[in-house]
Formats: sequence, C-alpha cells, structure tokens
Amino acid sequence: MSGLSSKHLLGIKSLIPEDIELIFQTADNFKEVINRPIKKVPSLRDLTIANLFFENSTRTKLSFELAEKRLSADVINFSASASSVKKGETLIDTVNNILAMKVDMVVMRHPNPGAPIFLSKHIDASIVNAGDGAHEHPTQALLDAYSIREEFGIVKGKNIVIVGDILHSRVALSNIFCLQKLGAKVTVCGPPTLIPKYIESLGIEVEYRLDSALAKADIVMMLRIQLERQGKEGNQVNYFPTLREYHQQYGLTMERLDRLNHTPIIMHPGPINRGVEISSSVADSSTSIILNQVENGVAIRMAVLYLLAS
Ligand code: CP
Repeated sequence: MSGLSSKHLLGIKSLIPEDIELIFQTADNFKEVINRPIKKVPSLRDLTIANLFFENSTRTKLSFELAEKRLSADVINFSASASSVKKGETLIDTVNNILAMKVDMVVMRHPNPGAPIFLSKHIDASIVNAGDGAHEHPTQALLDAYSIREEFGIVKGKNIVIVGDILHSRVALSNIFCLQKLGAKVTVCGPPTLIPKYIESLGIEVEYRLDSALAKADIVMMLRIQLERQGKEGNQVNYFPTLREYHQQYGLTMERLDRLNHTPIIMHPGPINRGVEISSSVADSSTSIILNQVENGVAIRMAVLYLLAS
C-alpha cells in the first residue's frame, strides 16, 4: 500500500488497519530523521499548512508545528482567541479566507465534536483532526499505539487499561478504535458516572475497581479529569464527590503498583494533573513512557502529513 485510504485524517474509526501500519512504517523512517544532527528533510517544501486551534493546546500544537517544519513546509498558525472569530466570523468563512491565501492543508482543533467532518464537506484541502471536543483525537491514538509497539514490538494481544474520565475523552475513544484495529484487548476503568452507557457495545471490558483493572494490565493509560467539559463551577465537581475521593479510588500511586506481581507500562496523553489521576512518583518513574509518547508524536505527525500530501 503506497498511500492512505482517505485524503483527510478525521478520526481513527474511518481508518483501515493497513493505514495504521503504513503510518507506523513511515514514522519509523521519520524517527530516524529527527534523531540525526540535521533533523530536516525537503519532503513538503512546496506546501503551506495552516494550524487552526479553536481550543487550547500545548503538545499537539507544538508537535504539529515542529513536524511541519521538519518536513520543510511553510506554516501559518491561527489561534481563535486572537482572531476575528471573536467578531462573529463563522468557521467556514474563517477557513475559506485562510485557504484563499493558497494554503494546501489544514490541521484543526475545535471544541465541537464533528467540526472537522463538517469542514471536510465544504473545502477541498486535506484536513487533519487535532482533537474535536469529546469525539476523536486521531494523532494522539496513533502516537500512543506507536509507543506501545516500540515498547513491546507488537500491539496485538496486549492488555491495555484506560483509566479516568472516559465519558469526556476523545483520547479514550480514538485509542479504543486504534488499539482494537491492531488486535489489542481494551478495558476502561473509572467511576460509573464517567463511563458512557454504550461503551461495552464497542467490544471492550469495563472495570469499576482500579485494583482489579490493574491486575490484568500490560499497559495503563491514565486520563485527566476534564473539568472544563463537566459544567464545573469554581472548585465544584459534578460527577464524583471530591477530587480527594477520586484520587483515593482511581489515582495511580506507587503503593498501588507495588501491590501487583507484575510491572505495567504507564502512559498519559497529558496534560497531567499530578496528585489527582497520577502521583508524581508514578509519572516520573522508570516504567512511565509519557515523554516517549511526546517524542513519538512528532514522528507520527510527520508521517500523517507526508502521507496525506502524497
Ligand atoms: N495530549 C494533548 O492533546 O495535549 P494538548 O491538549 O496539550 O495538545
């Protein structure tokens, strides 16, 4: 297979396993490139890419920008908070104005689920979804699965437990689709109020007790509580009594890991809330691959942009 099956990357759900394998093989080549003294290749030197961020980001925004620059693309950055969106301009008008400046590809993060799918029906340029509300975050899931493949050599057959705010997590949904397409076994764990009722219909297991979930995990993926999507006011939390109680029930601590008779790999997409879903001693431990995930994000995003451009 020489190209992806779609001109956009809108979500993992619409990818075929061959797409994922091609992205991984291409990322292997780019990972070698970014570890060279000269980290740049001319692959996209004729392309202009717009990064449109309608929602805050640290890792994804910087990682895409670095990936684009490593591929020699011209890059423009747009942040909704400093734009004419504040004056009432619509999404389609904003994007069409940017495309009129001869932009070839759009990377977009948006708080509304489905915004990149909607946009793909109205513009010709390729779109990469950099996270749309609580829907999908495809490049995060790709870099997560790639990091698991790097750690174990294979994703198929591994037991992955995703812990936390599954209800509001685009990372969880994209990872469920991606890991299942690669043959892994996925379990989600969290308070019943933060596990969607439909989730078992996706063919995954649900555990409400963290210690039971950890007992079978090769990999533990911890998620942040997304207070900004929970209708939170001040310090109030709406889906469980207190953050302190959440930490007691679902926080990953060294004491919990020490009770296991095996050593799972620890992952987190970031941003981390230390002392809530994960203790600092676990986040910074030798079995944590959190910073490897960030490093792999650049190679995966280079691969996605390169394959969509070709
Ligand atoms: N993992 C992730 O999407 O982080 P940012 O929100 O900082 O981009």
